[in-house]
Formats: sequence, structure tokens, C-alpha cells
Amino acid sequence: MNITKKIFFAPSLLSGDFANIKDSVNIIEKAKADWIHLDVMDGVFVPNITFGHKMVNDINSITKLTLDVHLMTVHPENHIQNFVKAGADYITFHLEAATHSHRVIQQIKDSGCKAGVSIVPGTPVTLLSELLPHVDLILIMSVNPGFGGQSLIKETLDKIKYLNDIRILKGYKYLISIDGGVNRDNAELIRSKGTDILISGSSFFKSLDPVAEADLIRGNKEV
Ligand code: DX5
Ligand code: ZN
Repeated sequence: MNITKKIFFAPSLLSGDFANIKDSVNIIEKAKADWIHLDVMDGVFVPNITFGHKMVNDINSITKLTLDVHLMTVHPENHIQNFVKAGADYITFHLEAATHSHRVIQQIKDSGCKAGVSIVPGTPVTLLSELLPHVDLILIMSVNPGFGGQSLIKETLDKIKYLNDIRILKGYKYLISIDGGVNRDNAELIRSKGTDILISGSSFFKSLDPVAEADLIRGNKEV
């Protein structure tokens, strides 16, 4: 029997229209996306500032899609409670921003959310080793965080293969997600490494046909 694994598609609202968030959420739902990826930037960990928990709360009130919060902030431990209350399903923080990463994972899980950890392109994947049995999600940044519309850094795909191989070997349960520069041309290669969740901002929202773009990224149709 040929079992095809489920690929989740998570458009990033960062490239949507912040003056018309409802319209952007509608575009995401029309494309039958599985999750909405919400980039929280604090202007310190990354150069830009986006939005906070109120935005997540308001989006939660207009959609039933899984809310995937990507915290690009220093001191992630200070923000978890607010995002849990706002309705986040997954909260992902950066390893580089947390001194006590193991504790942050516990804090997220104890609050009833799924816990994710992310690393930037310059961080070795082996630094995650002690966390692998405990996390629900690992988000591999395939661009340097802070901006949409950058090109995927190919070497980051080796991290996904490593995480997929060790997941099979040890029976770990985390999902593997990729964020940055994902588009219809590189999606097949990304999926082939064992990725579960493909996040896409600019290629999805800037496409003339976001529904078709979503299908191509998920692999429902041939390019
Ligand atoms: C970048 C963000 C990404 C961003 C991806 O720091 O974490 O989620 O929206 O955008 P694209 O798909 O345009 O690279
Ligand atoms: Zn992101």
C-alpha cells in the first residue's frame, strides 16, 4: 500500500494586506490552507516590528484554521501567556532568543499549546539535540528572519533531512516546518527532505492565482 504523508500548507500573513486582514484570511481559506502562519517580530531579535497578541486574538475570532505563531522576539517566555489566551495553537520560539529553552517548551505545553522551536540559518541543527524528545514542532528558517521575499538558502535543507532521519531512527514525534523563500519551483525538493509544513508568504500572496500556488506548493498538482 502506498501511503502518502499529509503535507500542511501554512501561508504567512506577513505578506497579506494589514489594512484588510479579513480579506487576507479569506484568501488563505479559499486556498484550503491548513494553518495560518503568524510572524510576531519585536524589532529587537529581528529588525522589523509586526504585530502582537491582539492581532492573533482578532484573527482567531474570524477563522477556525490552526494558528501557528512564530515568535521572533527576545525573552519569548514573557509573551507566551498572552498568545495562549489569544488562541494560538502552536507557539514557536527561537533557540537563539531563549536562555532556558527547555523551560520555555514546558511553559508552552503547560499552557495547553503545542510547542515549537526554531533556528536561524547560522545555527547548527545539532544544538537542538536535547530538545528533540520534547517539542511538537521544529521550524527551520530557510532565510534570515525578519523579512518576507528573500531567496531560500539551500544548505538549510540538510537540516531537514537530518531531523527527518533522526525522527525515524528514534521515534520522535515532532513536525518539521520550513519558513522562508518557499515557492512552486523549490517545493518538491523541500518535500522530498521530509518536511511536513511548508510556510509561504510572498510567493502565495503575490501570486495571480493563490489557489493554484497553494496546490503546487503542497504537491497536489505538477508544476
Ligand atoms: C520571515 C518570516 C516568514 C516570512 C516568509 O522572517 O518568518 O514567515 O513571512 O516569507 P517568504 O515566504 O516571502 O519568504
Ligand atoms: Zn515565520
